Amino acid sequence: MTKISPSILSADFTDFGSAVDMLARAGADYVHCDVMDGVFVPNISFGMGTIKALSKRTSIPLDVHLMITDPGRYIGEFAEAGAHIITVHAEACTHLHRTLQQIRSTGKLAGVCINPATSPEALRYVMDDVDLILCMSVNPGFGGQKFIPSTLEKLRTISAMIKASGRSIILEADGGVGLSNYRDVAAAGADMIVAGSAVFSAEDPEKVIRTMRGEISDL
Ligand code: DX5
Ligand code: ZN
Repeated sequence: MTKISPSILSADFTDFGSAVDMLARAGADYVHCDVMDGVFVPNISFGMGTIKALSKRTSIPLDVHLMITDPGRYIGEFAEAGAHIITVHAEACTHLHRTLQQIRSTGKLAGVCINPATSPEALRYVMDDVDLILCMSVNPGFGGQKFIPSTLEKLRTISAMIKASGRSIILEADGGVGLSNYRDVAAAGADMIVAGSAVFSAEDPEKVIRTMRGEISDL
């Protein structure tokens, strides 16, 4: 079954508590938390204070996507705040291997993310050091953007790299995924799907989550 990690970037920022309560009722596998610094991406969202508050409110594991420059500076703080998965961008790390080891040393799952224009080759020499690969299917910074079609081929390539590595690495797709294309994304090899606007703009968000997880048939 495909795991779903709804992004609270598209939720009501004054009421994250109700948003995660709803995600728990819907059976979401993770809560995707988009942390943006206004430097690596042209938007600013929230930081470790929000992660800490969320971890107190919900038992759903937190999938923290760091869209920040030089994330190694803050790994300890995000781990302490209650992240379960900490994902950094390959493009934002001067010493990616070191940063991934830093995440692992906190006992959290280490994720690496690549932007739409970055080649999967950027992942080749860190395959032993990651628990999750996050493949961006939009340019990071904003929710509600259109899925970039070349991502499907990239997911297939990364999926083959993971198989060849013999390791159990989660492949996650992020951006522009909704009811119209989640099947294609899963068929291309994604084990985990992020959905922001598709969930939080829906009339019945719980139904969208259950549908994308394959629990109920299409709306
Ligand atoms: C984009 C974020 C995504 C975003 C997804 O920078 O990393 O997680 O919230 O939102 P949708 O599903 O609306 O594209
Ligand atoms: Zn994200």
